[in-house]
Amino acid sequence: MREPPKILVFDSGVGGLSVLAAVREHLPGCEFLFACDNAAFPYGTKGETELIERVDHVVGILARRWAPTLIVIACNSASTLALPRLRSRLSQPVVGVVPAIKPAAAQSTTKVIGLLGTEGTVGRLYTQQLINDFAHGCRVIPLGSSRLVEIAEQAMRGTPPNDAELRHILSPLFAEPALDTVVLACTHFPLLSRQLAAAAPRPVHWVDSGAAIARRTASLLPGWRPAADRGFSANFTSPTTLQGLYPTLADLGCHEITVCDTSDSHPFSTNNTSDKNIFNQIDRNDS
Ligand code: DGL
Repeated sequence: MREPPKILVFDSGVGGLSVLAAVREHLPGCEFLFACDNAAFPYGTKGETELIERVDHVVGILARRWAPTLIVIACNSASTLALPRLRSRLSQPVVGVVPAIKPAAAQSTTKVIGLLGTEGTVGRLYTQQLINDFAHGCRVIPLGSSRLVEIAEQAMRGTPPNDAELRHILSPLFAEPALDTVVLACTHFPLLSRQLAAAAPRPVHWVDSGAAIARRTASLLPGWRPAADRGFSANFTSPTTLQGLYPTLADLGCHEITVCDTSDSHPFSTNNTSDKNIFNQIDRNDS
């Protein structure tokens, strides 16, 4: 029997889980690795050169080590910057996640759109180009919030967001009475979509890239056939912020967590004894 495609879904943090969910739903039966560069989190406030180098380094290691069929960079902050470098270096197709400006412009009636992302994403030239190309006649209001990224990280570790704080974060967008659409231009934010909608002072369209990325990924895997869901494994670059995530990861279908050091030159060799399934170890210790 033919091996299922191996899909690497990469982010700085838990935001990649929102993309993983959309891709898994669309492509059941594929083998998934959710890779999280939590050692270098957050990406959204990093300088551009530093971020390109970091993403190139870590994704390069993961690609050599795990040999995915396809790579999804499930991070707007990284995709709006590092895709040309990655695509020039990697043999696999690389799918990026960038702000869903085009569908938001099509959906908006008032043509006033909020762009909610990291500081990095909302300030990028790439994002401005998307606005120029696909949001003719629209007014796009940018709002960068690294705090919202933090809130999503905490939510996935069991701390629910505070409604008043979310309302405060969103207030610059909703100060514009004609706003009717908000682009969730950071993959962390769809994880809070229910809470953001509840905190918003009035209903608007919330637009993210998950479904479009899933369709794009499927289009690049023509030989793929649906099969039973196999869950996913997860790989982190640091053990330090992990433990609180175990219940969420287990609920979502994660069956293995590994942690790898990216500081040496061959950290992901299959002989590396530091690369252990710590998820199972913790389960055993807890029981
Ligand atoms: N999830 C990421 C994004 O889509 C990055 C968040 C961060 O590390 O700042 O931009």
